[in-house]
Amino acid sequence: MSKVHLIDHPMIQHKLTIMRDKETPSSLFRQLLYEISLLMGYEVTRDFPLEDVEVETPLEKATLKRIAGKKVAIVPILRAGLGMVDGLRDLIPVARVGHIGLYRDETTHKPVPYYCKFPKGIEQRMCILTDPMLATGGSAADAIDLVKQHGCLDIRLMCLVAAPEGIAAVQERHPDVDIYVAAIDRELNENCYILPGLGDAGDRIFGTK
Ligand code: PRP
Ligand code: URA
Repeated sequence: MSKVHLIDHPMIQHKLTIMRDKETPSSLFRQLLYEISLLMGYEVTRDFPLEDVEVETPLEKATLKRIAGKKVAIVPILRAGLGMVDGLRDLIPVARVGHIGLYRDETTHKPVPYYCKFPKGIEQRMCILTDPMLATGGSAADAIDLVKQHGCLDIRLMCLVAAPEGIAAVQERHPDVDIYVAAIDRELNENCYILPGLGDAGDRIFGTK
């Protein structure tokens, strides 16, 4: 079974509380999502392997550490996942970025695919899928299917707020994918929105409501 990593550092909890407030404007919401994504990135990359490298400092030669191993692909689930890309990319500047377009049908709450573009050689990379909201888990699980169909089997899912139902659904369909979240909320409402949640993440990022 995959692991769920709850990244509840006080700075992250504080920033997320401001994001949840319905009075928080879109500009601040976006800025905080950027900051939290960068902070979460430290934990998502915590187990990255290191290798020795010889460096000449201004004073002497030294054997030091640098990141070894696989290259990274950051893959946001459109639209809201886009809000988590810049923070991760500032942490991992050499990462390539793919995109998966999915929207949730308003009546069935099932994800509908509309776009998919991955960087070349995705199968050689570790993929960090981003989406702020993990509600029923349908969108994330379908997005993971797509990444796997393109040959990439080293996948991590990074979300901001998750419902227990969403975590269970992803774990059932993808027991090999670790999930990183900043908060696990209480439940879903009758429209499959997360409670207490923060509303519609895409609308709040892009000001579409
Ligand atoms: C939201 C969210 C996830 C999905 C979560 O996207 O960003 O992708 O819903 O729901 P699920 O876990 O029940 O599948 P939405 O479909 O509203 O699209 P948007 O990001 O374009 O607004
Ligand atoms: N999508 C969102 O943006 N918010 C939710 O609470 C559930 C799905």
